[in-house]
Amino acid sequence: MDKIAILQQKIKESQLGGGQKRIDSQHSKGKLTARERVQLLLDEGTFEEIGMFVTHRSRDFGMERELILGDGVITGYGTINGRLVYVFSQDFTVFGGSLSETHAEKIVKIMDLAMQNGAPLIGLNDSGGARIQEGVVSLGGYADIFYRNVKASGVIPQISAVMGPCAGGAVYSPAITDFILMVEHTSYMFVTGPNVVKTVTHENVTSEELGGANTHATKSGVTHFACANELECIDNIKKLLSFMPQNCEDDAPIYNYTIGKETRPVLNNLIPDNAFQPYDIKEVIAEITDENTFLEVHKDYAENIVVGFALLGGRSIGIVANQPAFLAGVLDINSSKKGARFVRFCDAFNIPLLVLVDVPGFLPGTDQEWHGIIVNGAKLLYALCEATVPKITVITRKAYGGAYDVMNSKHIGADLNYAWPTAEIAVMGAKGATEIIFKKEISEADDHDAKIKEKETEYIDKFANPYNAAARGFIDEVIMPEDTRIKLLKGFKMLENKVAKMPKRKHGNIPL
Ligand code: HXC
Repeated sequence: MDKIAILQQKIKESQLGGGQKRIDSQHSKGKLTARERVQLLLDEGTFEEIGMFVTHRSRDFGMERELILGDGVITGYGTINGRLVYVFSQDFTVFGGSLSETHAEKIVKIMDLAMQNGAPLIGLNDSGGARIQEGVVSLGGYADIFYRNVKASGVIPQISAVMGPCAGGAVYSPAITDFILMVEHTSYMFVTGPNVVKTVTHENVTSEELGGANTHATKSGVTHFACANELECIDNIKKLLSFMPQNCEDDAPIYNYTIGKETRPVLNNLIPDNAFQPYDIKEVIAEITDENTFLEVHKDYAENIVVGFALLGGRSIGIVANQPAFLAGVLDINSSKKGARFVRFCDAFNIPLLVLVDVPGFLPGTDQEWHGIIVNGAKLLYALCEATVPKITVITRKAYGGAYDVMNSKHIGADLNYAWPTAEIAVMGAKGATEIIFKKEISEADDHDAKIKEKETEYIDKFANPYNAAARGFIDEVIMPEDTRIKLLKGFKMLENKVAKMPKRKHGNIPL
């Protein structure tokens, strides 16, 4: 073979990721190959590979005989919808996608490029973890990645798709990134696998139960998206990116939007007459955002709060909303953490925040107290206080107690606070309030029930409305539900050049 033919053959070999057999083995597990994933993710023909000829340096355990070009990871850059991204895609067909010294160096190289050039980093993970034959240089390689994940946090968006195994300390790189996506039945994440679990705790558990996509989407909240298959996973990565700027100094993309008829009369009848009856806050979100643009994040975790991205008049916004249809929309540990993390992402990347409020308060009970509702609830409070992006609040119904303060009240820096006429803003619900403040009168009354009813009505008339708060300027305007979208379009437009700075400091100390 002449020199050019040898070169072409080498390129072909490396692009195959180690041979047709290996590709077939990946397909037989219902998984795409590392290269197929990159091709589906990026705009056609835009992928530029870096480090295709890298091989590992290990000379132990016969490794010197197995020098596979690329060393189990494809790295490079390309575009998604015309915007630059950096990507690495681990190749499970090469040493189980395990991370060697050189594999790590390839990832680190594109992480550094992503940081220096201010563009998102996407990791497609499919790996058996640290390359066992290499020892500490592999562990060092992980640490080099973790260190850069942290440096890049809040500077460029970082997205991790877990498309195969992800075990041991390897889970911590995805954990530090902004969003994790998993694929049902073919991916899992855990710090220690089922065998170790059995030895240590005597529990019998499968990989799927311990760390599959559904487990992490519903129980732990580790993953933000559990995708039915790899195509859906890749599609969700693209959707997520469509709402984000390239980096923290950039603004999110603006899409064409022509103002039309923006009133939404259906909202006028959405709130049930009975204040204890639920309704679905996602119906409100669907009406007030641009049609079919809402991308829910963490859909199956802590469903009492809804978070996600949407477009409003063609511009990205982040939405945090209590969900009355689940646990009455109460704030608890998990919903506070979920909300806080989302708020901090939006704030870091200049995405304005809309907060929809219908919250009866914090969830009482020993379980919540003993697991730290105090510090965890404080996370959401802290995150919203800290956020300097444009922030608008709409109270649709209940805003009780501390939860009123937490849910982007005027007092913690919201720019515009609206309330629907159905809003009830008070220290607590009428029943609880009357039982405390009219205890004596009720106990002395001949007819206790009638007295309770009378006092409840008195309390509702006095406090269970938005007008006391509006009289003090804590609510800027009481609006008809149908006008919400117009108010938001105008409000966010008015706030688009907002400049607000936090005091100079190294960093705050959010209660972690
Ligand atoms: C080297 C590895 C490897 C690894 C898998 N392979 N994991 N090679 N280092 N970590 C190789 C296998 O030898 C095999 O090679 C090929 O990849 C495919 O692996 P299989 O076991 O045949 O695949 P499968 O049955 O699908 O099982 C996948 C797996 C299993 C569950 C991931 O391979 C596994 O348990 N691997 C070890 C996982 C692990 O303990 N990693 C270390 C975690 S600790 P051949 O040549 O036969 O095809 C860690 C520390 C990180 O990562 C520290 C960061 C702080």
